[in-house]
Amino acid sequence: MPAADKSKPRKLVPLLLDWFAINARDLPWRRTHDPYAIWVSEIMLQQTQVKTVIPFWNRWMTELPTIADAANASPDKLHKLWEGLGYYTRVRNLQKAAQAIVAQHDGKFPESFDDVLALTGIGRYTAGAICSIAFNHPAPILDGNVIRVLTRIFGIAENPKEKATNAWLWQLAEELVTHAKDAKTAKAFSPSRPWRSLREENACSFLNQSLMELGALICTPRSPQCLVCPVKKLCVAFKENRTEELPNLGKREAATARHFTAFVIEHNGKFLVQQRPAGVVNAHLWEFPNFETNGSPMKPGDLFKAQFKASAPELVPLCTVKHSITRYRITLQAFHLRVKNTALKTTGTWFSPAELDALAFSSAHKKLASAAAKSILSDR
Ligand code: ADE
Repeated sequence: MPAADKSKPRKLVPLLLDWFAINARDLPWRRTHDPYAIWVSEIMLQQTQVKTVIPFWNRWMTELPTIADAANASPDKLHKLWEGLGYYTRVRNLQKAAQAIVAQHDGKFPESFDDVLALTGIGRYTAGAICSIAFNHPAPILDGNVIRVLTRIFGIAENPKEKATNAWLWQLAEELVTHAKDAKTAKAFSPSRPWRSLREENACSFLNQSLMELGALICTPRSPQCLVCPVKKLCVAFKENRTEELPNLGKREAATARHFTAFVIEHNGKFLVQQRPAGVVNAHLWEFPNFETNGSPMKPGDLFKAQFKASAPELVPLCTVKHSITRYRITLQAFHLRVKNTALKTTGTWFSPAELDALAFSSAHKKLASAAAKSILSDR
């Protein structure tokens, strides 16, 4: 680090803390110190935006208010509570970790960083977030938001994925949260908003959350709001007009297009759905029979015949759903058809729309389920 930067972490801390105390959003998980509740929020917030997470978190905490409840919930219940959040491995890991806490820690969330890090589904970032927010430990955090904030403030042009640069960024994050322990806190105390009043016992929590919050509200990937940024006078990227080039994330892997055809097959008001097996993406979720068709010139009717060994009745386009999973841009084209009998060469279960409603679907297939429920009301 250049010599001029040595005192910078210490100077940044009061600016960040004061800004957070005034500007922090009132998020439901910020009104609790329960490490379980904070853990659930952090897992949900991985790869998912705050505004999406809020209703999911509220529902989860109502349905499964304790670690023991999460440990004992049925897989169906867990997946239904996570339905629409995506990345379902997260919820299975959360349950594994809850079961480990019951077995190894008597059901009480552990306070030591190493014990937290040892839990399934919890990496260095999440362990740091939970330990700092719930217990005010001076544990650093570094995720995409914090990387953006730090590379811009410190003018770090190297790729943050490189080992040495990554270690440097963790080091800066650690210096910041360590300085927070000694921060003067009186200025930002606000008796009318106790949940966001800065005190000695939450300074590390607030410092880490200020980095997250700055990345979410001000130091955004595009068009950052530098003029209202609390640390602009210390920010290299602002001074040198380099916010667009930082962070330097290198070349992005190109997105891959994938095409699927789904069949929403109806018989006597019921629909055929299948549950995805363990060990594959979206394991345990339900879906309509579907097939990857990339580049295949086969018509949907011929695909139906080939797959189900049955003649295809009239196929009616139902809807097309476009969505992204990691680097895949997926187009799912769905067709509705009514069959006279259920002698199709396939596995699966026939459910009424009301029964479908109780199952957990991936977001794309949830849309097909809604369209299916509507189709039954119409006579086409
Ligand atoms: N992103 C990750 N963790 C967060 C938190 N605790 N609050 C807001 N956004 C977050």
